[in-house]
Amino acid sequence: MQFELTEDQLMVQQAAKEFAEKEIAPGSIERDIKAEFPTDIIKKLGELGFMGMMVSPEYGGAGYDTVSYVLAMMEISKADASVGVILSVNNSLVCWGLEQYGSEYLKKKYLVPLASGEKLGAFALSEPEAGSDATNQHTTAEKDGDFYVLNGTKNWITNGLSADYFLVMAQTDRPKAHKGITTFLVEKGTPGFEHGKKEDKLGIRGSDTCSLLFTNCRVPAENIVWEEGKGFNFAMNTLNGGRIGIASQALGIALASLEASVKYAKQRKAFGTVIANHQAIQFKLADMDMHFEAAKALTLQAAALKDAHKPYAKEAAMAKLYASKTAVDCALEAIQIHGGYGYVREYLVERYLRDSKITEIYEGTSEIQRMVIARALLNETGG
Ligand code: CAA
Repeated sequence: MQFELTEDQLMVQQAAKEFAEKEIAPGSIERDIKAEFPTDIIKKLGELGFMGMMVSPEYGGAGYDTVSYVLAMMEISKADASVGVILSVNNSLVCWGLEQYGSEYLKKKYLVPLASGEKLGAFALSEPEAGSDATNQHTTAEKDGDFYVLNGTKNWITNGLSADYFLVMAQTDRPKAHKGITTFLVEKGTPGFEHGKKEDKLGIRGSDTCSLLFTNCRVPAENIVWEEGKGFNFAMNTLNGGRIGIASQALGIALASLEASVKYAKQRKAFGTVIANHQAIQFKLADMDMHFEAAKALTLQAAALKDAHKPYAKEAAMAKLYASKTAVDCALEAIQIHGGYGYVREYLVERYLRDSKITEIYEGTSEIQRMVIARALLNETGG
């Protein structure tokens, strides 16, 4: 597959890069220390069309393709991966799923404000006992007239405190196992819906993560996304695109690590010359660059397949698996290149390592991505 980026795609990337450098990067250290949600930045990103990038203009979105989304996500995450994940969840997991599978009523009422950045979304699949094993849903939704009554707990919900609208997976027909799972759109403030405490995280500290608690929470039947029993397929199909978003976030962290390392290597002197002249450093930089380019190619490939309406679940899993490992490896090498300076906040690379680790965990761990890839491979080859 060949990638000649179009002028439009490059323009979106440039716009994201300029905004990220001017508005996102400057406060990133402080937001990380204070674990502060970037409310104003998200509002501005909404005004610029970055919160509903792939949503059609008919529903308040920017109507960009997935390749443009990858490029923008990379630039934004390079400046601050916390902003990246907030964007990724809203774009890939919430807006995309609603546009694909939501009723006209849901699209008009919820997608329009989500895509324009007026409201923020969250995606609630994981539970205390259903992480990788996502079919093991304990949250229930029992039909009661024109409503469903939700009971249960969701865990690790990105945007959990700040979101207005939540896509919540729940069991509506337990004997049918994963074919009895349904997705509901639940509004913040619905009686019986509360959030737990904000998690104190290792990285992506500028984003908020918490549990959600449902106690006899009544949700209108018209808020079902797609149809009853399709909730697990909804989650899986949506997560395929989500994995492209997280791969792009990881690309941003890897690129930030690489650029910081090149800059530092050209300035720092040791043994009478800048360390960029030492082969030990050159080899590290070469490997970082190679892995970054390979990860970018995999991610753009998955995005291009999605844009071409071709199957992309395996490619998205490969992109996330490879890009997330690249982000962690590049951040580690960046610290090594920076020596002691890499271990303190001021030089940013320590945050890149803390931010990178989660990309190997959320939206399917690296082990789950290998499962997805292997299953696709065995099916393709008739094994
Ligand atoms: N794309 C589309 N469909 C998929 C799929 C994929 N990648 N993976 C599985 N499915 C479908 C299967 O085709 C099957 O559908 P049908 O029954 O209609 O045929 C159904 O899902 C069940 O699949 P399996 O029988 O293979 O079920 P399993 O239990 O053996 O495996 C799993 C399922 C792949 C492990 C799945 O549970 C999984 O992906 N787990 C990881 C969950 C995850 O990614 N969680 C992320 C939480 S969200 C998050 O992190 C967001 C955030 O806040 C940042």
